[in-house]
Amino acid sequence: MVTSIRNGMPMLDTDGKPMHAHGAGIMEDNGYYYMFGEVRDGDKRVACYRSKDLMNWEFRNVVLRITSEKKPHYMRTDLDLVYHGKGVNIERPKVLYCEKTKQYVMWMHYENGVDYNAARCAIATCDTVDGDYVYRGSFNPVGNDARDCTLYKDKDGTAYFFASGRDNADMMVYRLSDDYMSVDEQVKALWAGQYREAPAVFEKNGKYYMLSSMCTGWNPNQGGSASSFGIEDRWSSISNFGDSVTFNSQPTAVVKFGEHYIYVADRWDPVDYNNSGYIFLPITIEDGACHIEWADEISFDVKTKTYSVFSIESEDYRIMANEFTAYLSSDGADVFTRPLSYKDESLIWNFWEKGNCYNIVHKATGKGLASDGTMRDISDKRSMLWTIEKCEDRVRIVNVESGKVFAVRGRRVMLASPDDKFGYCRIVRKY
Ligand code: GAL
Repeated sequence: MVTSIRNGMPMLDTDGKPMHAHGAGIMEDNGYYYMFGEVRDGDKRVACYRSKDLMNWEFRNVVLRITSEKKPHYMRTDLDLVYHGKGVNIERPKVLYCEKTKQYVMWMHYENGVDYNAARCAIATCDTVDGDYVYRGSFNPVGNDARDCTLYKDKDGTAYFFASGRDNADMMVYRLSDDYMSVDEQVKALWAGQYREAPAVFEKNGKYYMLSSMCTGWNPNQGGSASSFGIEDRWSSISNFGDSVTFNSQPTAVVKFGEHYIYVADRWDPVDYNNSGYIFLPITIEDGACHIEWADEISFDVKTKTYSVFSIESEDYRIMANEFTAYLSSDGADVFTRPLSYKDESLIWNFWEKGNCYNIVHKATGKGLASDGTMRDISDKRSMLWTIEKCEDRVRIVNVESGKVFAVRGRRVMLASPDDKFGYCRIVRKY
């Protein structure tokens, strides 16, 4: 039994085995939270765990495999789970219970495992929550492409499927048929052209909320929330929640814990999928907008239905440049960019305060950033000092001696003139 979880880290199940349920959907059933999520290992595709306290997760079953039983659906779907001899990709599985048919119905995102061009949704069904699901095939809802997705069951039992469509530009909302097995009607194309992904929907006191992210693959970006008085009503515009990388997370579900709503998110590791971690943070709502605060650790008390959060002081930062995909690194001599990986200690920087300025120190090598873009021994020389100017949600890192700003073009690091449009970075705490 664990008594708290460390946010952002990979988790172990109650047998001590690495837990793989990424892009998870969580539903409550017979007194448990059931978590369904992605697993990419041999023929395994969707795993199911259950928990009463959101901290200790018991492995139940691999509910969907490439080799799962396949059964055609009343509409024409594609039943293949193998493409060019290899298993396809299944992402963001979500499950609802259908009262009418007494079936558990899973909706998910299907890709051929080679590229992201199929952009289909897929369905599987089962008589029990964590049994072997029968694969019912993939299709394009009303002919649309469909990628990141979620399901939501309204109070009257009407179910909705949400999926990024029109090449991720719009968030499509589909009302499902009463057996949850097909689309009844597309009811919305929300935030057209705003490229929202990773939807998670919940309701509180008659108001509906949707969390989502921007569209930068597995690199974290700014999360947002919106609200409405009904799934098919008018939705608000999106307001930011969390910091500019949503504390290195991307939404996947919201669960109700007593009176609290808990943000459940992935910390995808863009270079090592199986090192991806989990995040559970309480949501607060103000004026129709959702907010989360970072907590390094969280614990849930099932008896009182309360949670406690703990945070650790941190002086470690990553410097993110060029819109979420390039991170600053060094070998102690030069500065260059590398992709984000949570295991990569060469991405960690410290800022040593020197009056109004800073030495920018590469933690792994102990060297400091110099005005010519190389790394040198740390000193108070003006060439080694930098100011950090805030510009909305980004910063400009300006050298005290030369006035040049730190810039990244593509993956190339350079020192540029102060008006350079690439001369912005984001400094993000190592969460
Ligand atoms: C993300 C998406 C994930 C996965 C990933 C692949 O944008 O939210 O579910 O598809 O891209 O790069």
